[in-house]
Amino acid sequence: RTLTTVFSGIQPTGSLHLGNYFGAVNLWKSLQNDPANHLIISVVDMHAITVPWKPEQLRQNIVQSFIELLACGIDPAKVVLFQQSSVPEHGKLQWIFSCLSSMARVDNLPQFKEKSAVQKEVSCGLFTYPVLQAADILLYKAHLVPVGEDQVQHLQLAQDIARIFNSKCGKLFPTPHRLHSDLPRLKSLRDPTKKMSKSDTDSRSLIQLTDSPGQIREKLKKSVTDFKSEITYDLAERPAIANLLMLYRAVLDVSLEKVLEETSKINKVELKARLAEAVIELLRPVHGKMKELRNDMGYLEQVMAQGTDRARTLASQTMDEVESLAGF
Ligand code: ADP
Ligand code: NA
Repeated sequence: RTLTTVFSGIQPTGSLHLGNYFGAVNLWKSLQNDPANHLIISVVDMHAITVPWKPEQLRQNIVQSFIELLACGIDPAKVVLFQQSSVPEHGKLQWIFSCLSSMARVDNLPQFKEKSAVQKEVSCGLFTYPVLQAADILLYKAHLVPVGEDQVQHLQLAQDIARIFNSKCGKLFPTPHRLHSDLPRLKSLRDPTKKMSKSDTDSRSLIQLTDSPGQIREKLKKSVTDFKSEITYDLAERPAIANLLMLYRAVLDVSLEKVLEETSKINKVELKARLAEAVIELLRPVHGKMKELRNDMGYLEQVMAQGTDRARTLASQTMDEVESLAGF
């Protein structure tokens, strides 16, 4: 029986938030338990430097990402969990892919315009990072990539690059397809038109795995809503309440109907309070695990070294094939 290779990346740009938890980590946990999957998760530190960064902060964030993923239940025995920059083949393949991608094609990707608009000085890396993403995915010959709506065009670029390489140099890469997750993106607690994101500079907009119970209560209490006090689910007209209900649904792991039933007789203030307690309960064991891991750096280093080893074995094999087909 052939395995399905699934590739996912997470940027070490700060502590994971509940959007990452429900949108990515939960999905990875269910994927890792199916022996038909070969799950590869990369802490993509090379992507984290496409915008200005502080070296010491980056170093801490990388370790923190491993701690959080392990604390959430990602099992390094079942998953190839590794630091991107520890596998030099990512950069090598990206270069070849850069030479196979037209400027116009990359220039048409929507994220660059959005992301560069908020930077004083825009790096070449920010422009070409979708090509690096294609290398991340294809280096492991991934069949499936769980991506949100905002990354669909980047996945299409990876598909195009795979096709271009295959026809120019020789058949090597399978077409990577999108793996849908049914959870809609969690939104910022300050502005429901934006997604909850680590790169949001307003820490009140997101709940992070490292937040204390006090911070969680405070952030939810202050989260923006609207002028109506009753609870209804209306994504278009009441996006902030809809977001809180989606979050509640995800935390309780029940259907939306069930949440609406539970909240039909309460007001917004009570919803926020109940939600806060549910999130605190959810994160209690994660906090315990994080503390344990922080006190066991030896284990952490061992996990990271093992991930590098496994990823490099896979990546160097693909890279040998690539170089030979490319004429090197
Ligand atoms: P961020 O934008 O917060 O820096 P990343 O780009 O590192 O997050 O994404 C890591 C994973 O988390 C990806 O699989 C992404 O789809 C998922 N993710 C990020 N933000 C959200 C969100 N608000 N809701 C659901 N999933 C999300
Ligand atoms: Na992102």
